[in-house]
Amino acid sequence: MDPMSFILFGATGDLAKRKIFPALFNLYMAQNLPEDFSVIGVGRESLSKEDFQAVVIQSLYEYSRHSNDDQSKKLEFVQQISYISIDLTEKSNYLKLLTLMQKVENAKSIEENRIFYLSVAPELFDVITTNINDSGLNNTSGWKRVIIEKPFGHDLKSARQLNRILQHAFNEKEIFRIDHYLGKSMVQNLETLISSNPVLQSIWRKDMISNVQITANETVGVELRASYYEKAGAIRDMVQNHMLQLVMMTAVQMSERVEVNKFRSEKIHLMKAIQMNSTTDVVRGQYSRLDTDSAIKGYREEVGVDPSSTVDTFIATRLSIQTPLWDGVPFFIRTGKRLHKKETKIVVEFKGAMNGRAKEVEPNLLIIHITPNDGVSLQLNSKHPVTGELEPIQIDFSQSSREVPEAYEYLLADAIKGDPSYFTHWDEVELAWKLIQPILETFDQHMIPLHLYEPGSCGPEAADQLLSQHGYNWW
Ligand code: BG6
Repeated sequence: MDPMSFILFGATGDLAKRKIFPALFNLYMAQNLPEDFSVIGVGRESLSKEDFQAVVIQSLYEYSRHSNDDQSKKLEFVQQISYISIDLTEKSNYLKLLTLMQKVENAKSIEENRIFYLSVAPELFDVITTNINDSGLNNTSGWKRVIIEKPFGHDLKSARQLNRILQHAFNEKEIFRIDHYLGKSMVQNLETLISSNPVLQSIWRKDMISNVQITANETVGVELRASYYEKAGAIRDMVQNHMLQLVMMTAVQMSERVEVNKFRSEKIHLMKAIQMNSTTDVVRGQYSRLDTDSAIKGYREEVGVDPSSTVDTFIATRLSIQTPLWDGVPFFIRTGKRLHKKETKIVVEFKGAMNGRAKEVEPNLLIIHITPNDGVSLQLNSKHPVTGELEPIQIDFSQSSREVPEAYEYLLADAIKGDPSYFTHWDEVELAWKLIQPILETFDQHMIPLHLYEPGSCGPEAADQLLSQHGYNWW
C-alpha cells in the first residue's frame, strides 16, 4: 500500500467520532493501513493536537470493535494524527493547511498521496472543493482522491452543479462518493453468495423469481437532525441512494461479474432500465401520534420540525427493470422511521411450483439479512412429523454484527487502495436523481397523499395495498 495522508474535514463531527476514526483504527489493528500514513483532522473547534488526540482516543473506546484492546495501540495510532482548526469558508486558511500538510509529509517522508474526506454539511462541499483546488492542495506529485459523504445534491440540478465543481479539482476516477449501504458486509457478500453456489445461481433467473422485496426499516425517529431531514425526507435520505443501490446490487448479480469498470457500467445499465410510475406506484407516509396516549412523539412534534410539515418519513414503491434478464419481475422497496423494528433485508420470493398439489403452499424465499445481523435464510416447505401437514420451515445462518467489520472499514480500505467498486459513479447518481425527480415534483404538487402511521407500527396500510393489488404481501 502506498504511504498516504488522510485529510479529514469535519474531524470533530459526529460521523468522525462514531464511524471514521473507529474504522481507521480497526484498519490499523488489522494492518490494513499503509506502514507510513498520517491523518490531519480539520475542524472548527479550537483544539491543540494533544486535545484532539484525546478526543479520538475517547471515540475509539466508545465506538471501535477493538475498544478493549491494548491501550498502547490506541496511543500509537493517535501519534499519527495532527489537527488544525480553520474557518472552512476562508480561502487563505487553506494555505495554512497546505503548509501543515507539507510539514507532516516532510517529517514522515510520506509521498504526496492525499485523500481528502469531506465529512461536513453538504452546503460546504463546493466551497471546500473550490478552496482545495485554488490553494493547490490537490496539486500533488503523487495521487489524490476525494471521498464525499451524502447527500450528493438536493435534486438533479444541484447534484449536477456539485459534480461540475468537484470535477474542477478531481477527475471521476479520483472521486469516491460514499454510500455506506454498499459497505455493508452482506451487500458485499451478495456476489459470492450467488456466484459460488450453483444451487442459487440456477434459481437466480427471472423465470424462477416472482418478486423481490427490499426493506430498510428503522425504529428511531428523526432524532436531532430535523433541519436536514425537513429538506430531505425519506425519499432523498434513503431511497435516492441506499435503496436504489440495494436494488442495483441485487439485480447486478444476474450478470457475470467481471472487472471493476464492467461491474460499475453494468449497474449504470440497470439503473437506466428502471421504470417507476411516480403517481401510481409510490406510497408516502409520516409517523404521527394517532393514539394520543402514546408516549412517542409524532414527527410534527419533534424538535425543529414544522408543526404542519408534510415531509415523508416512510416511502414504499414498486419498480421494474426493463432488461431481458429482469423484465416482468417487480421490485418493491420500503423504508421508514419509527417502525416496529430495525431491519434491513432483501427477500427474493420464488414462483410457486406445485407438483399437482391441491393445497396452496407457501412460496420459497431467499432472505438476505443485512441489519441487525448478517445472515441468510431459505424458506422451504416440509411435512410436519405429527400432523403430516405441509408447513414452511426456515434454514438460517446468522452472524452477530459485532464480529463483522463495519461498512466504513470496508469502504475506507477500498478508497485507500483506490478501488472504486463499492462507490457510486456519477452516472449512477445522475440517473438516480432523474428517476426520483418526477416523484419529488408530484410530492411538491401534493399529488400523492401523505398517509399518517402510528410510531411502532409496520407503516401505512397503503404500503400493504401496493403489494396486495399485485397478489403479493410483504415478508
Ligand atoms: C443514513 C440516513 O444515511 O442511514 C439516516 O441519513 C439513517 O437517516 C441511516 O438512519 C441508516 O443507516 P443504517 O446503517 O443504520 O441502516
